[in-house]
Amino acid sequence: MTTKPTSLQTLAIDGGPPVRASFLPYGRQSVDEADIQAVVDVLRSDWLTTGPKVGEFEEAFAAYVGASHAVSFSSGTAALHAAAFTAGLKTGEEAITTPLTFAATANCILYQGATPVFADVASDTLNLDTLTISEKITPRTKAIFPVDYAGHPADLDGILDIARQHGLIVIEDACHALGAEYKGARVGIAADMTVFSFHPVKHITTGEGGMITTNDAQFAETLRRFRNHGISSDARQRQNSGQWYYEMVLLGFNYRLPDIVCALGIQQLKKLESNLARRRTIAARYTATFRNVAGIIPPRVRSDVNPAWHLYPIRLDLEKLTADRAQIFRALRAENIGVNVHYIPVHQHPYYRDRFGYRAGEFPVAEDAYSRLISIPMFHGMTDKDVEDVILAVAKVVEHYGADRKG
Ligand SMILES: Cc1ncc(COP(=O)(O)O)c(C=O)c1O
Repeated sequence: MTTKPTSLQTLAIDGGPPVRASFLPYGRQSVDEADIQAVVDVLRSDWLTTGPKVGEFEEAFAAYVGASHAVSFSSGTAALHAAAFTAGLKTGEEAITTPLTFAATANCILYQGATPVFADVASDTLNLDTLTISEKITPRTKAIFPVDYAGHPADLDGILDIARQHGLIVIEDACHALGAEYKGARVGIAADMTVFSFHPVKHITTGEGGMITTNDAQFAETLRRFRNHGISSDARQRQNSGQWYYEMVLLGFNYRLPDIVCALGIQQLKKLESNLARRRTIAARYTATFRNVAGIIPPRVRSDVNPAWHLYPIRLDLEKLTADRAQIFRALRAENIGVNVHYIPVHQHPYYRDRFGYRAGEFPVAEDAYSRLISIPMFHGMTDKDVEDVILAVAKVVEHYGADRKG
């Protein structure tokens, strides 16, 4: 490994030359000419929204995942809201989720007037700990929202066992996990509803966008109505059937994904397997290197999963370092490495603290992880040189702050 000499160089934060001349983000989309052409073709067509590309994208997505139904939404957040509605969550009820997620996972429970109840995470995967879920179940509990943190599938069998015992609905937030495998099957078929996101840092993108897969026809119908004002047919169906009449049967929203970006999604989906393969190659390279660097704990992978590697979050072994996460974060940014932190635990956000009175220490595993986590760049468009730059910079900075380093 060539990291030793680099580790002796002056850090960029201390005035030395940065490892990279230009900034490398932690995630970014890849869009090619075929993607652009597909969008242009739709712009020249009759249907900019709710046309043929929507169904085409949904069918291709359902086939990829292996689910009976896929319903598209204008974002992953809109999809989560629709799933919470379709599960029947309402005021006075509770849903259990993880604090170590993007706020949208918990917010969708609040949108329904229900209360998010956090359960702590397992220290290896940082996914919901099945043992802690059971302790949080009350007569008011209606649903469980596991998150596939960083793209590592949650322990769905364990969670489904608990859910079936208590009559709960499981909504898997797989916004990180498109293409991940759990016990040999793709994520998206086990939970009652599985939610995906197509934000630009994800495995495929539509700019903004989301999808729910389900094997339940009734859920699929409610989801389709919810995203279209609660109306029982869409404009294209009415045009095709020559009918003007429609009925609004529930209070829905306009959460539709336009044809323009569904065309992009169809093209992007064709590249998903190669995007996943690239992410897995990068993850393997990172892990092989960082397992030998004192001060770094690479993400752990359970033997029954194949993660999708949306993120590559390392944990700092702070006991072996002379600097905290904030200092190491700043030092890596100075090296032009676009690090990030996933996540500030949801219960620590002022809105949740003020509304629910959460205090530090309530979810010790998630909170301890938060103090150590740094997401290093991980996206399928990274070149080998990008990957080596990240490795050099991380080793340089972490070794600089190593507790056993002299001077
Ligand atoms: C775990 C998780 N859930 C939900 C969302 C929301 O998805 P979107 O940005 O598509 O609304 C995200 C977004 O990145 C996410 O990471």
